[in-house]
Order: sequence, then C-alpha cells, then structure tokens
Amino acid sequence: MASGLLSRAEALALPGVRHACHVMLYSDTDAKLFGRIPFRHVVLMQMRFDGLLGFSGGLVDPSEETLEEGLGRELLEELGLAVPVSAEDLVESCFAPALPPSSSSSSSSSSSSSSPSRLVLHFYVKKMEEAQIREVEKAAVCTAADHGLEVMGMLRVPLYGAKSLSSFLSHSFIGNARGQLVSSLLRLQLVSPKMMHQALTLSLQVHASSGTDLRGALALTEKHGWGASASRRSPADASARRSPADASARRSPADASASWRSPANASDLQSPADDSASRGGPVDDSA
Ligand code: APR
Ligand code: MG
Repeated sequence: MASGLLSRAEALALPGVRHACHVMLYSDTDAKLFGRIPFRHVVLMQMRFDGLLGFSGGLVDPSEETLEEGLGRELLEELGLAVPVSAEDLVESCFAPALPPSSSSSSSSSSSSSSPSRLVLHFYVKKMEEAQIREVEKAAVCTAADHGLEVMGMLRVPLYGAKSLSSFLSHSFIGNARGQLVSSLLRLQLVSPKMMHQALTLSLQVHASSGTDLRGALALTEKHGWGASASRRSPADASARRSPADASARRSPADASASWRSPANASDLQSPADDSASRGGPVDDSA
C-alpha cells in the first residue's frame, strides 16, 4: 500500500520522528438499506477538523506511553469511550506521505520524509460486534471531548454499491487514509476487487468533471461580490454596481444551480451495481 514500510521495532528506534496511531473499526451487520439492500459491513471513519476524512486516533509519544496506550488515549478523546486496541491489531507502520506544497505551510505535521520532524504512521484495524460499533457512534456524539472540535462527526463508509462507494472515495482524505481504507477493504474482503475496481474507475470520472463543478460553485462567490470580475471593486459595492462583465454573477439562482450539475451527477455514470440496487436487484458480489 505505501512505500517506506517499517517494522514496529524499526519505527520505534528512529531518532527525531513523531508517531501517530490510527485505527479502522469495523463490524459485520445484517442491516439492510431501504429494508432490502444488504449493508454487509460497518466501517467507521471520521470527518476531521480540517475537512478531510480520516481514521480515529492521533499523535502518540512513545517516550511516555506505548503506541497502543497512546492510541487508547486518543480514542477516548475522539470517541468518548475506551476502545482497547492491541499490538496484534497493528497492520503496518510507515512514513507519512509528503504533503502537497499547498498544504505544507498550514500544517504542523511536516510529514515530508526529508523533513527533520518526520511523521511515522501506525495503522491498526479492529473488528468489533455491531452493538459495540453502535456504542462508539453514540458516545462519539454524546460524550467525546473532541466532538464538534477536532472531530466533526463519525461516519460509515457506504459499501453496498459501486456508485455510492465511488462517491465516498471521491472525497478528500488526510494523508494516505484513502489508500489505507481501500487496501483494508480488499485485504479483509469487505469489498470485492471487482466492485472496488468499478468504484475507483467511477471516482476518476467524477474527479475529471469536478473542475466544472467547482468553477460553477466559484462563480457563486462573484455573485456575492468576490472573484475575477468582482475583485475590481470592494465587496460592499458589489451588489450596488454590477459591471457588464458580471454576467455570470447576474444569472438567476436557477441558472447558477444548473451550472453546478456536472456529468458526474448524470445517470450515465450510474454503475450497473447501483442501477440494479435502485430496482431492488442484487447490489454487488462483494464478500
Ligand atoms: N495518513 C497520513 N497522515 C495522517 C493520517 C493518514 N491516514 N491520519 C492522520 N495523519 C496525520 C495528520 O495530518 C496529523 O499530522 O497524522 C497527524 C496526527 O493525526 P491527527 O489524528 O490529526 O492527530 P490528533 O492528535 O488527533 O490531533 C492533533 O492537532 O495540532 C494539530 O496537526 C495537529 O492534526 C493534529 C491535531
Ligand atoms: Mg485525530
């Protein structure tokens, strides 16, 4: 999955690195979406404070605690209850991928492998009972200290069809969390390689069209007095003095929403799996 794999011992012997531990919690389930589409598995992730999707966990200081003690402390803060994770649940340790240049100045993680303060990631996977997963979800909202702060909310990965999974995988993830998710789903056979292939192929199509979608959304900021044509005047003046160049900003709300509709939303991207799901047929052949 990721380059730069390390053994636990190698990782802990590295001088001058920081460590972070994260875990994918999951369970089997008999639940059915709309009463007929098998959910099969519950896989938990979270919306982070930075708007990115990631796994629960955080920074750990091995000079003061074991990796698993530190992970347990982070889980208590983020999930609001104790979730014991053991060394046997460790899947891999590796260097965090280098951050894209645009995000390096705003992050304190300095995860480039050439940076003096490199970050080593320890990724765990833990299977639970469905009832325990529900407890986690409740506590994460009701008692977790980080709820609404460092964690904006827990969420379940939609695994019942290629189209819904592709939409989920099209979001933005922290570091290599998307790779950690995909590789875990395949390794644990929670999603078949066929469905994952369909989902990722669709995700690439969604990404190709999301530029159009984002440009349509960006045009809405001009309507509110900020942007290419609007920036020549102060935002306060914008609504009072619209220039002819402001044509796009003067479109009706109906026009604006039309420009949002990208091909990604069109039915031509619907996968056979999701198509059959919507008709009540089998969703996919994942395990
Ligand atoms: N892949 C790569 N990097 C990751 C991943 C991942 N899947 N998940 C998290 N990280 C990075 C984050 O970018 C962060 O730098 O690991 C570091 C620690 O993870 P967090 O869960 O964000 O840490 P936590 O202790 O929960 O929160 C502390 O406050 O000061 C900030 O930057 C600090 O993000 C950190 C947060
Ligand atoms: Mg965290």
